[in-house]
Amino acid sequence: MSSMEVIWSDLVRHREDFSSFHLRDAFAEDPERFARYSAEMDDCLTLDYSRNRINDKTLMLLEALIAQADVAERYQAMKSGALINNTEGRAVLHIALRGSVADDLSVDGQAVMADINAVKERLYTFAKGVRDGSIAAKDGQPFTDVVNVGIGGSDLGPHMVTAALAAYHDGPRVHFVSNVDGAHMGDTLKGLDPARTLFLVASKTFTTQETMTNARAAKAWLTAAIGEDAVADHFAALSTNKAGVEAFGINTDRMFEFWDWVGGRYSVWSAIGLPVMIAIGPEGFEDFLAGARAMDSHFETAPFRENIPMLMAALGLWYRNVWACASVAVLPYDQRLLYFADFLQQLDMESNGKTVRNDGSPVLRQTGPVIWGAAGTNGQHAFYQELHQGSDITPCEFLVAAKPSEADQHQHDLLLSNCFAQVEALAFGRTAEEAKAQLEASGKSPQEVAALTTHKVFPGNRPSSLLFYDKLTPKMLGRLIALYEQKVFVQGVVWGVNSYDQWGVELGKELANKLAPAVEKAERGEGEPAILDRLKAYRAR
Ligand code: F6P
Repeated sequence: MSSMEVIWSDLVRHREDFSSFHLRDAFAEDPERFARYSAEMDDCLTLDYSRNRINDKTLMLLEALIAQADVAERYQAMKSGALINNTEGRAVLHIALRGSVADDLSVDGQAVMADINAVKERLYTFAKGVRDGSIAAKDGQPFTDVVNVGIGGSDLGPHMVTAALAAYHDGPRVHFVSNVDGAHMGDTLKGLDPARTLFLVASKTFTTQETMTNARAAKAWLTAAIGEDAVADHFAALSTNKAGVEAFGINTDRMFEFWDWVGGRYSVWSAIGLPVMIAIGPEGFEDFLAGARAMDSHFETAPFRENIPMLMAALGLWYRNVWACASVAVLPYDQRLLYFADFLQQLDMESNGKTVRNDGSPVLRQTGPVIWGAAGTNGQHAFYQELHQGSDITPCEFLVAAKPSEADQHQHDLLLSNCFAQVEALAFGRTAEEAKAQLEASGKSPQEVAALTTHKVFPGNRPSSLLFYDKLTPKMLGRLIALYEQKVFVQGVVWGVNSYDQWGVELGKELANKLAPAVEKAERGEGEPAILDRLKAYRAR
């Protein structure tokens, strides 16, 4: 048995130590539990992981597991520009995008920082121009609206970040269109004036069906209203595919490039971040990058018990592989982080939703969990019932700021109380005695008390972690995203998968392209799905 397998077996055995563990008792027995199981960085971000089914031995074993997986070596390999995305023969260097000029990162012996900074300068000049009106529409007037046309990593990151930083917007309005469903583009364009609208076509490959279809629809809408010659002023492209951009009709001086070593779901730090730069300005974007850089350096240098991404990765492995928890709920108590769980779905599930290891052999255990969630307090009135009393244990990750980005302190206090209440309720629950006493105190008859008590019991002992930070600034958001990127990296290394390819999305794309002509004609050819016959019938009605 390999050393890692020995540790996995130790961890499985160690789970038995928790057969009579309850977080209620753990806190009662150890008033220092928060101090023992929390970590802080930069005096503004705390991970409180005290409400988890863990003790010192758990952490010791998980630390050993991660060390045995050579996470540190793998990270150095990533930084050295080695082709760690082995199935695509690519380096993985998104961390360079937030690195400082002093960092000496290279791919294939070629230094990358000079290229990154040159493109960044062009992006900042463009963003400033759009914001101050010096980069104008065809009629010389400033743009009021910017529409980002992209999908997956070319949409989820910039969309989530733009929404999260709404308090910092001082540029034109920014919209996002991703779905090939024409309703998405149609609804977005309804309120817009073609003469005042700039389109950013964001696609690493510049071949993605949804994006190219939407980009063509946008072009048709624009040119029908203000003429064929409007494309030059009203379009820009964010891509690695120069030929594709030119073929679409966008001049390459309006193209902002990135590189094949930037994975789609890791690309918000690159040219794909242009909508964010336009919304909050280059200075704000620099703060965003600085936050991520700070998290990278924390990740690289902090010891395990103080290392927030490492700890979160370790807890994820513990629940996924030892407790067989199939999902993780991400619960930001922040309306502005409305799309955070959506973003993390791609980051985590596209990265680690794999069953084949780097070397082609099968993965020996469960990999990436289902990531889901919604902003609090809305989720409380939807799915929290299941979190508290359902038959599955779902580890929860709560996020909340001490201060609101703007607005009402009173409402923010209520938001905080709700968040803190949920973590307490999940951990401590309510016993039968407490439920009974509460019912009696509310004047219920003995029969009613007997009938209702079991329904009112909360088992508690449900694990959660809390990311608590001072305020959702661009810098803090940079920290949070990089935190999750590094967490996903650590877990991918432990599972031995390539976290940077996504072959699992190809088959559906291929079939959709193949089926498109048959769907258009509503005619079923050989080997095509029987539902096409029904399509023909329904269309005929
Ligand atoms: O969904 C698969 C995927 O390849 C993602 O990894 C990527 O972010 C997305 O499609 C969009 O790709 P592109 O930026 O090339 O249009």
